[in-house]
Order: sequence, then C-alpha cells, then structure tokens
Amino acid sequence: MVKFPFFVKMHCPDSDAMKTTEKTELQLLSEISRISNSSIELQEKLQRIVEAVTRGMEKDGASLFLIDRSGRNVYLAAAIGLNQESVGKLSFPLGQGIAGWVAEQKVPLALEDPFSDPRFQYVPETGIERFKSLAAAPILDGENCLGVIFVLSAAVWHITSSDITLVTTTANQISGVIRSAQLLRNVQQRLSELGTIHEISMAMTSTLDLSQLLSLIAKNSAQALHAEGCSIRLLKLPETQSLETAPAYSLYGEGVKDLDARIGESLADMAIQGRQPVLIGSSSPQTQLPLPAGGSAISVPLLFHERVIGVITVYNKQGGQSFAEDDLQFLSTIAGGAATAVENAAMYERMQDLALKAETRARELSMLFDISSALSSTLNLDRLLRIILTSVTMGGTGLGFNRAMLLLTNERSNFLQGMMGVGPINWDEAGKAWSEATGKHTNLMEWIRTGDLFERRDVAMNALARGIRMPLDPKEGVLALTVLEKRPYNIIDASASPLVGRKLRELLGVNSFAAVPLIAKDRVLGVIVVDNMFTQRPITDRDMRFLATFASQSSLAIENAIIHTNLETLTRDIRTMHKQLVHSEKMAALGTMMAEIAHEIRNPLVSIGGFTRRLAKKVRNEDTKRYIDIIMSEVTRLEGIINDNLQYIKEAPAQRGEEDLNAAVEDILTLYAEELLQKNIRVEKSLDAAISPLLIDVAQMRQAIINLVTNAMEAMESGGVLTIRTYRIPGSGQVAVEIGDTGVGVTPQAMESMFNPYYTTKQRGTGLGLPITRRIITAHGGTIEVGRRDEGGAVFTIKLPYMTRKPAGP
Ligand SMILES: Nc1ncnc2c1ncn2[C@@H]1O[C@H](COP(=O)(O)OP(=O)(O)O)[C@@H](O)[C@H]1O
Ligand SMILES: [Mg+2]
Repeated sequence: MVKFPFFVKMHCPDSDAMKTTEKTELQLLSEISRISNSSIELQEKLQRIVEAVTRGMEKDGASLFLIDRSGRNVYLAAAIGLNQESVGKLSFPLGQGIAGWVAEQKVPLALEDPFSDPRFQYVPETGIERFKSLAAAPILDGENCLGVIFVLSAAVWHITSSDITLVTTTANQISGVIRSAQLLRNVQQRLSELGTIHEISMAMTSTLDLSQLLSLIAKNSAQALHAEGCSIRLLKLPETQSLETAPAYSLYGEGVKDLDARIGESLADMAIQGRQPVLIGSSSPQTQLPLPAGGSAISVPLLFHERVIGVITVYNKQGGQSFAEDDLQFLSTIAGGAATAVENAAMYERMQDLALKAETRARELSMLFDISSALSSTLNLDRLLRIILTSVTMGGTGLGFNRAMLLLTNERSNFLQGMMGVGPINWDEAGKAWSEATGKHTNLMEWIRTGDLFERRDVAMNALARGIRMPLDPKEGVLALTVLEKRPYNIIDASASPLVGRKLRELLGVNSFAAVPLIAKDRVLGVIVVDNMFTQRPITDRDMRFLATFASQSSLAIENAIIHTNLETLTRDIRTMHKQLVHSEKMAALGTMMAEIAHEIRNPLVSIGGFTRRLAKKVRNEDTKRYIDIIMSEVTRLEGIINDNLQYIKEAPAQRGEEDLNAAVEDILTLYAEELLQKNIRVEKSLDAAISPLLIDVAQMRQAIINLVTNAMEAMESGGVLTIRTYRIPGSGQVAVEIGDTGVGVTPQAMESMFNPYYTTKQRGTGLGLPITRRIITAHGGTIEVGRRDEGGAVFTIKLPYMTRKPAGP
C-alpha cells in the first residue's frame, strides 16, 4: 500500500524488533489521538505531536512542515531537535528541498544519508547537521497534501519498511488532527463572521441617514474583512445602471483613496455588468486593472430585489495576503444586508422629502389664505395694490421678494403704466426701515389692521415704478410680452437676454428679475415685477409657481376693485343727475308760481306807479313830495325784481338777427351816462367794428350787458374806471366782449357762487343778474368767465361764436 518510487535500502527486522515496533506504534498513535482530542491550539498540538513522534519512534528529533495558504510553499510549523527560531520561518517552495519534494510527490522518503542526496538543501540556521538520517511522509487529506512529517536520527538509522509504515500512519493521524483543527477554525470563523454581520445589520437598521449609513457599512466591512479600505458607490438611477452621476459615495481607509479613485469605477462597472462579485488579486492576473503588486480587491454589487442599486468594494487584505473565496462570500452576505438598509434609508429620505414638500405646500396654502383674506379686506384700488405688493415683498406670511412693482394696462390707450412700487431703493434703506418694518409684523392682516401698511414709506420705489410707461408692443420687450403672451418670465441674466432693453435694466438696477401677468377672466390687467436686489437669492421655479398662484388671486381682487370703483363713480353721477333733476323740477314749479305771483303783482304795481306819478304832479308840499319819490323808487325796484324773476324763469325764445353789438353797447352807455357821471366813473371803451354784424338776439344781449354794467357800477360806489372792449379773438372764430371795473373785486366765496341764482352780497340785490346773463350767453352758444384784475376789481369776458347768417336748419 505504500509505494516506493525510489530504491530504498530495506533492512529486514527480526521478530523482537517487530513486537517492539507494534508496541511503539500503538503507544504513539494513542498519544497522538489524545493530543488531537485535547482542547489546545493547533500550533501547540503540532508541537506535542513532534515530541510524541520523537519519543515514540525512540529517535532524536522530528519536524512538521505545513503548506501555506497560497499552496505553493511548505513552512516549518513545529520541530524538536532543530533550532526553534526556524519554526515559522524556514520555508521551501513546492518541489525544493526534501520537504518540498515530499509535499509535491506525495510519497514517503527514507534517507540514511540525506546530506549526499541531491534534493537536500542545507540551511545551517536549523541545526540539521546534528542528524545523520531521516524518514519523511506526506500528510495527506485524500488527494490533497497538507504538509510533511520528518523523523530525525542522530545516529545512522537503517530505516525499515515498518519504520516507514509507522511514519506514514502517524502522518495520516496528523492529517486528521489538522483537518479537525481547520474545521474548528472554520466554524469559529463562521461564528465570528455571523457575529460581525449581526453587528453590522444592527448598526445598519438603526440609522436612516443615508450618508451616515454608507460610511458605517464601509467601515464595518473593511474591518470585518481585515481590508485596508472599502468604498461604496450608489447608482443615481438604478434603472440606467450608470455610475456616471453617482450621488452617494463613501470611502473608508485613507490609504486606498488613490487606488479607489483609479480603479474603483472600473471594478464597480465589472460588478454591475456581470451582476456578480468580482475578485481580483495577485492570483488572478487576467484583469487589466492596475492593482499594485500583492494587492487584491473584491467588488460586490448591491442587489435589492434583483435590481443593482450600487457596488461595495474592499481593497488589500491586511498582512499581505490576497482575498480568497470565503472573503468574497462574506462580503456578499454583508452586501445583501447593506442593500436593504440603503434602500430603506433612501426610501426614508424620499419620504422625508415628500413630507417636506407637503409641509411646504401646506405653508403656501396658509400663506395664500392669509393673503386672500388681506386682499378681500378692501375694495379701494390704491390700498389693494399696496396690500398686493406688500404680500409679495413680505417675509413670513408673504412671498419674501426684496422689491416689487405693479404695472397696470390701459386698454384704451394700449399702454402699460407703472402704478406702485414697494421695497427699499438702495442698500442703506434695505438695512434699516424695511427690515424694521417687516420685523415688527409677522402677519399681513395685523399689519393692515394697524394701518402701518399704508404709511407712505416707499416714495422712491413708487417713483421708480411710475417712471415705467410703454406701449403694449412686442418690440418693447419682456414686460409688454408678459401681457401680450399672458405668461410669466423669469429673467436670470438680463444683460444676456434679448428681451430686456438697456433702459429697463438700468431703471431696475438688477440683472435678475421676474414678471408675472395679472389675468382676470382672460383679460390681462397688468404685471407684477419682482426681484431680490439685496439678498441676491435666485428666483426658483417654486417661487414662480407660487407667484403665479398669487397673481391670479390678486387679479380677481383688482378686477373687483376696479368694478367697484366704476360702480361708485356711476352711483355718484346718478346721484348728481338725480339732484339736478329734482332741482330743475323744483325750479320749474317755482317758475310757474313766480310767474303767477308776478303777474298778480305787476298789474296793481302798474296802477300804483301810474297813480303816484299823477299824485306827484298835484302835490306842492316838499315833505309829501319826498315821500312820493320814495314810493316811486320802491315801485321801480319792485318792478325790477319782478322783471328779473320773470326773465330768469321764462325760456325766452331767441329772436336772432344780424345786429350791431357795438351799437347796443353805445346805447347802454348813453342810457347810464348820467348815473356814471354821478358816481364819478370814467368810461374807457374800445369797440372793434370787425365784430359787426353778429347773429344775436339783440334785446337779450343788451340785457346781459346791462346786468354786467350795473354790477360794475355797484362795485365802484366811490368812483373808478369802467372798461368795455369788443374784439375778435384771432384764429378762433369767436368775438369777445370784455367788461371790467376797478371796484371792490370778487371774494373767493363770490367767485364760486356768483353765477348761482339768488346769490347776492348786496342789501337790495336779487342775485339773478349773473345767472340771467349766463343763460343768455349760453343760449347764444357762448361762454362767460370772471377774472380778477391785477390792479383790483373784476373783469367779465363774454365769448360768442362769430356768426353772420342764420345757420341752415328747420
Ligand atoms: N363787478 C363786480 N365786482 C364785484 N362783485 C361782483 C361784480 N359783479 C357781481 N358781483 C358779485 O356777484 C353777486 C351776484 O351778482 P348778480 O347776480 O348781478 O346779483 P346782484 O347784483 O343782485 O347781487 C353780487 O352780489 C356781487 O357779490
Ligand atoms: Mg346784479
């Protein structure tokens, strides 16, 4: 059963020796099995075994070589009779030295004089020269060689076949010891791996912060695998299986940073493409990756429900060894748990994101609610615009822009006109008043209630806004386009935008701003312009969305306010018209009554006048004469009052003909010549013949002028100058009659009311002269105005259309 490929000189043992051998053999084997069953470390067991072998074989030494992890060398694991320093150090490649040869050939070997054998390699440090002969046997596990056992003899040893059998049997025994020790080590390692995995998974499930989690996994994995470092890459979109835009990356181990930067992505790509772990190292030279000499790495895809979500990679096993299959298995186990934890964390992040969005939306809604209650608090357009702009610029419950302007469209003129601006105009102002004002109020409604909102503190911004006026023409750029296209614009770089003219840019003084249309029932009412001049915060899509919602609310409010204002004007007009109507009705009734009264009074008055004149002729007594004069003058006055009233009331039908107005004026002056002289009034007249003939009712026009002349005379009780001028107003087709005096002048109160019927400042006045005059002039298609003269007194100017023939008509 034991083959001898080389000739070994065999000595035939005698039967005594046989017995001894059997006894020795039994003793030795039972000792080895005792050692095997003891609970000491493998290293210790091996040492005891070589001792037992030396003793049992009654020789002078023994040594035990084991094959290392790489499978390419044998090293001295235990020895007796050799220098102990060599243990763990002495090593031969497979095939070299006696040990290497036996391990490779897997056959026993007996050498009575090993020093003369060509396979022998002399290593002086071991102290092997003390021995003369040796016997060796491979420690086999099936076809696998685990190591070599040597028995060493200080005297020349004639090795028998039973010696060889004993060494071989011992080797088999030792194989069992090593196997069970390895098994135990495997079990222990599995246990410790399980422990590590448990620890990692505990840690992984206890954190939901993704980046924290990644660094935890990287660190634990590196430590568990005794690696120098570990990196984790997550795919941004697992669907695309692309690492290009990896959002999450974590690295543990500063020493492998460069290595990971160089080959990490390629490795990850290999793992993603193959959807399975990749192990590279010194024993797998097939990869082109520039791994440093002696280095190794494992990349394992992180799979979640069959989907690759990332890759975990460990680098360089500590102690210069390469990663092996069991490391790969271990990392795969970790990767499975890690994938779940990462996915959970990502999910949690997404949920948090959603929750945040929902919260933001809720806040926006509550802001909108606040704003809409503020908007509905007034129907006054001016106040409303201010509320709108304040909402846009206010922090807290508002939209929080730095500045805002409101422009309204004028449909009739097709223009866009700046109406109002809110916000600081420069840094200085931004620093003080505004922040202080906004800081004081957290709530828009409260601000409105306190009335602070309507304090004029934005004079400069208002002026800036009002300076904007442009036709609604696409050529005018972004503001006009906002109206015409009914859509918002977010201008990020005004200087590069063809839509923003230099003028607007200079006026606003910013390079980024936004404009949103105010649309109500498909009609664009105007534009809100906002910017963040001072904070320089970019205007986001979210800002724009919110601004648009806000704008549509504001539009409705503005529309309501405009309708309301229009309604108010309309109501006021109707009310005035109604008053006028009532008044004219009253006047009509009054007129009828007056006409009747006047008629009733006039006849007796004529009788009184007639009889008094006849009486005056008969009376000689001076006193009586004086009384009669008084009666006469009072009668004349009464007649005057009645005439005035009748004239004012009756709609005198105009009897127009081509007349000479200058002649009428001359007549009147002649009529009043004596009275003027008495009152010491000088007349200055300048009558232009070019005004004649004129199409007028001369009797009425006479009355009009008389009224003015008498007023002038009454204003100059202590004398003065009466000026009368007639002339043509050049280029107007009108003639003018000007009557001026140097009298008491017109008080502001009289200025307002002098044309109202019955307004008089005189004791014996009727207050009907001027109303009658105006009616006559108006009936002639003319106007009358009063003015103050610089030198004192009043001047009345009548303007009449210059007409010479009756206009054609029915
Ligand atoms: N030439 C004038 N100078 C100053 N006040 C005048 C003049 N003409 C009219 N007024 C003012 O206008 C009022 C109304 O004038 P009028 O209608 O003629 O009524 P009356 O002469 O009866 O007062 C006068 O009472 C007077 O106060
Ligand atoms: Mg008068």
